[in-house]
Amino acid sequence: MASDTSSVLAEDRPDAAASQAALQVEANAKFAQAVLDGLARPLRSLPSRFLYDERGSELFEDITRLKEYYPTRAETALLQTHGADIARHVGDADILVEFGSGSSRKTSLLINALKGLGTYIPIDVSETYLTEAAEWLAAQHDDLTIAPLIGDFTKIDALPETAQGHKVVGFFSGSTIGNLIREEANAFLRNAAHLLGQDSAFLVAIDLKKSPDILIPAYDDAEGVSAAFSLNLLTRINRELEGDFDIARFAHRAIYNEGQGRIEIYLESLTGQTVSVLGRDFAFSEGERIHTEFSHKYSLEGFRALAATASWRGVTAWTDPDGLFSLHLLRFG
Ligand code: SAH
Ligand code: AVI
Repeated sequence: MASDTSSVLAEDRPDAAASQAALQVEANAKFAQAVLDGLARPLRSLPSRFLYDERGSELFEDITRLKEYYPTRAETALLQTHGADIARHVGDADILVEFGSGSSRKTSLLINALKGLGTYIPIDVSETYLTEAAEWLAAQHDDLTIAPLIGDFTKIDALPETAQGHKVVGFFSGSTIGNLIREEANAFLRNAAHLLGQDSAFLVAIDLKKSPDILIPAYDDAEGVSAAFSLNLLTRINRELEGDFDIARFAHRAIYNEGQGRIEIYLESLTGQTVSVLGRDFAFSEGERIHTEFSHKYSLEGFRALAATASWRGVTAWTDPDGLFSLHLLRFG
């Protein structure tokens, strides 16, 4: 397991609790460094994984229930409709590993379909999500061992020992792979092949290219939940890094970059202003932006080609009747 991951169950043992506290200090230092570096760049940018503190995770769950946000509904329907076919293509599997598992609500459908799973390993940076999801899933699936890992899924170099020698299937839900730029997605897929192993199956959710008339409202809804999700990053910086962002003087902006096939999300300064973080000042001009997220949209062939660059073979894909979203079954080797 990578040094910057830990089990949420570690608090049961004093030695593990101490190492968990050390990891928390390290995580705080990484957040501080990423924010200071990101704000100092000419094109300011903050990594999207920091959107998911406790409040951010709650707001993301609220987004999944918005009428404008189709991905969660579409993926749920695909798992409900094609669960048995997905299980047939996956074949025997003992362990399910999920990257960026969040609330694991949709995963429960996959667990039911993949009958016979012994262990579920959800991986997420958001400890709140992981703990709640593990408790909820344990109540749904009596015979399933749940072994959560807190950590950055791009940095994990090995699965826990319990996974060795077992047939492992991977799941990357939500279209979270779309939040990675192409090079990151390629590196992630290569590492996933190393983690899951030869002959493993990997189910990856992909949001498909579509009209900006559908995309923009999904990322800038009428109720302002998407805006609250983005702006919460500034609130987090204020709380954890002695920041003094005036949240009312920043606005959420979601644009569709047709050439790159991606939603781009920014926080835009509504006035000229100077903001302090950990004692460092950052001067913003009116209209200046901080980039917070990309959400890449793929064609079926475009994603298959990306997977192939990391030696994953596209076995089959399931798409909803409106062509909004897809689930891809990949096999390595
Ligand atoms: N899979 C869930 C949640 C999607 S939200 C769903 O489909 O509804 C994205 C999830 O990925 C969040 O829970 C977030 O905390 C997690 N995440 C984002 N970047 C991460 C990273 N680099 N490492 C681990 N988890 C990450
Ligand atoms: C987690 N991920 C797939 C979401 C998306 O659609 O890109 C994150 C999100 N950001 C704003 N709304 C949803």
